Amino acid sequence: MSTHPQLNAAVEPIPQFDLCAQYAAIGAEIRTAVERVLSTQQFVLGREGAALEEEIAAPCGVAYGVGVASGTDALILALRACGVRSGDEVLLPTSTFVATGSAVSALGATPVFTDVRPETYNLDPAELERRITPRTRAVIAVHLYGLPADMDSIVAFAKSRQLPLIEDCAQAIGAVYKGRRVGSFGDAACLSFYPTKNLGAYGDAGMVITNSQQLAERLRTLRNHGQTAKYLSSEPGWNSRLDEMQAAILRVKLRHLADWQGSRRSHAAEYTRLLEQVPGVMPPHEPEGCEHVYHQYTIRCERRDALQQHLARRKIGSTVYYPHPLHLQPLYSHLGHKAGDFPHAERAAQEVLSLPMYPELRKDQIARVVEAIAEFVKC
Ligand SMILES: Cc1ncc(COP(=O)(O)O)c(C=O)c1O
Repeated sequence: MSTHPQLNAAVEPIPQFDLCAQYAAIGAEIRTAVERVLSTQQFVLGREGAALEEEIAAPCGVAYGVGVASGTDALILALRACGVRSGDEVLLPTSTFVATGSAVSALGATPVFTDVRPETYNLDPAELERRITPRTRAVIAVHLYGLPADMDSIVAFAKSRQLPLIEDCAQAIGAVYKGRRVGSFGDAACLSFYPTKNLGAYGDAGMVITNSQQLAERLRTLRNHGQTAKYLSSEPGWNSRLDEMQAAILRVKLRHLADWQGSRRSHAAEYTRLLEQVPGVMPPHEPEGCEHVYHQYTIRCERRDALQQHLARRKIGSTVYYPHPLHLQPLYSHLGHKAGDFPHAERAAQEVLSLPMYPELRKDQIARVVEAIAEFVKC
């Protein structure tokens, strides 16, 4: 057996996220909520979903929520409701999860990628002017890792060009930009409740939030086969509804979200404090006026792959979000991009590493992660 404490078989693994720890704390509340749904035997478009829509929209600072089957569907339906069609172009950052782009492609439209800012990994607003064409029909701003994008500039661009703006808030529910929550800046905003998200369901679920009554009505139609009345469809739609079981579970979790976000923020502060002593590692940047919700705590390191292997040997989980920017995905090879087209995004893809981050993470675990990083940097 190794004499190194972190190589010892008895050392407790530190996963990158830990849903079991959360369930251990709230399991009884969840089971009560599930039992409530089972006793009503109403599973689709019922009271739980309607209540959740209100309970999410209000704190996000918008009037309407429309529950859908996933964050991806939220994007597809929001784009469609904003008028995006086959042959259109949609501007979006190349550093994001593939769903941001594939939602555009699902409508037969073309994603037009933009580079990101190297210190925030979010869309560089200067790129929008460079990439706009007469076929541009919408803009998607992604708040990657839970950090708000530069909304002043992005909103100003969209307004000046009269383009609908959609916020991809999949990773950023509750994040604040200059005193306002993300999701309240665009014409519509999309949430994902994928299980590992800051507010995660026990399966797939998502929501579109908006201040526009007209858009909300359209979205309710689109998620339900284009039906404007029972068995009367005026356009092709989808079956994309957030079910009652997931809604009930999410309503329980929503009551804990503010505490969980607080824990994430204090873990991030602790990581950043300890990492100040570690050269060659860049902690995440939180620009003035932004409140990051740390869906991910993402560092940068030139020897990232070796660092990740080192952490794995010390039983510390970490993940690369994302190793391939969208413009270099095989899915988009037909768009003809090549390495070097978006240098900031490409460099980030080689250097970023997300460390363990979940509300139940302990201070001693954070210290162990940083110790392991410091040990790697020295050798
Ligand atoms: C930035 C971003 N957009 C969209 C999605 C899609 O959400 P879902 O997995 O709920 O379809 C995700 C989920 O991982 C995401 O991280």
